[in-house]
Parts: sequence; structure tokens; C-alpha cells
Amino acid sequence: MAGATDAIRALVRTIPDFPRPGIQFRDISTLFLDRDGLAATVDALAATVTGPVDLVAAIEARGFAIGGALSVRLNAGLLLVRKDGKLPGATIAEDYALEYGRDRLAMHVDACAPGARVLIVDDLLATGGTALAAVRLVQRAGGKVVGARFVIDLPGLGGGRALDEAGIDVVSLLAYE
Ligand code: PRP
Ligand code: ADE
Repeated sequence: MAGATDAIRALVRTIPDFPRPGIQFRDISTLFLDRDGLAATVDALAATVTGPVDLVAAIEARGFAIGGALSVRLNAGLLLVRKDGKLPGATIAEDYALEYGRDRLAMHVDACAPGARVLIVDDLLATGGTALAAVRLVQRAGGKVVGARFVIDLPGLGGGRALDEAGIDVVSLLAYE
């Protein structure tokens, strides 16, 4: 597992001062380009999931790539949590703060059957604002959040602690201080 994690880490590129001065942007697109690295990432995330999952709730945009692949691997459906204004049906929405701004996430109000076991998936956990907005959406829709999974955690921004305090089982593959 340590070997796989090191190989995954080696494929993530850091771009300084994007999108704002002072932000070290952890660019996962280079990991997605590598077929072995992508497969190892999905395998490693799947290995952290022990119970049944009905739906993977993947967060736009980079979360769609990893969440889509993981949903197939877990034999689960895929629930798209999108930036507000993109979904055609009736939606519910939640505002949240980002490391560099604010945004609003939405999901179809009928996307999740009552009691469905939902795993939140995104590429990266920073402040946790995005993931907690997704948790609130799924819960409002009647789903049961069984955990949250990320490729990258930025522990200095406190998202892991925030999810933990909200009672969410959270696992990330890589941490960047
Ligand atoms: C990034 C990342 C997470 C979020 C994490 O998404 O993919 O969704 O930030 O930040 P947080 O833990 O502080 O909420 P971004 O909003 O940049 O969107 P993108 O995936 O569409 O580029
Ligand atoms: N999303 C929020 N903070 C980020 C960072 N530092 N790198 C990549 N994506 C992010």
C-alpha cells in the first residue's frame, strides 16, 4: 500500500500561485493521464470501503472523474453533485466557502432514494466546505452518508477534522502539508 501511495503521489504535480498568489495547487490531471496511476488510485480508494454503498456522490468537476470510476468499482450508482445552475430537473442547493472563494452546489432533489447509502467522493479535501455542503444535500434528500473519500487531503486547512466532527468516516490517500 505504501508503494502504491508513493507512486500515486509522484504523479500529482504542484503548481505554485494558481489560481491566486500563495496557493500551492495540487494538480491531479497528471495522475489522471497515467493509466497505471489512475487504476492504482481507484483500487486504493476501493480498498478503504468496507460496507455496502448504493450511490457514489461525486462532486464537480474533478470529483466526477474519480467518483465515476470508483462507482463502477463499488458496483454503486453515480450521483452528480454539481455547481448550481447546471442540472435540468428540480434541485436542492447549498452554499459553501472555498479556500479561494465561495460557491453553491446542487443535486436533483429526487436523485437519492430514502435511506440510500451514499459515499461522498472528491479529488481533494481542503477546508471541507465543499464536502460538507454535499453531505448536507444528501442528508436533505433523505440519503445516509456512509463516508467520504478523497485522493488528496490538505490537513492544514482542517477539512478532515471538520468532517470528523460532523460524524463522517473520512479517508484520504495522500496528505500535503
Ligand atoms: C476543489 C476540489 C474540491 C474543493 C475542495 O474544487 O476539487 O471540490 O476544491 O475545497 P474545500 O475542501 O475547501 O471545500 P473546485 O471548487 O476548485 O472545483 P473543480 O473541481 O471544478 O476545479
Ligand atoms: N482545491 C482547493 N484547494 C486546492 C489546492 N490547493 N489544490 C488543488 N485544488 C484545490
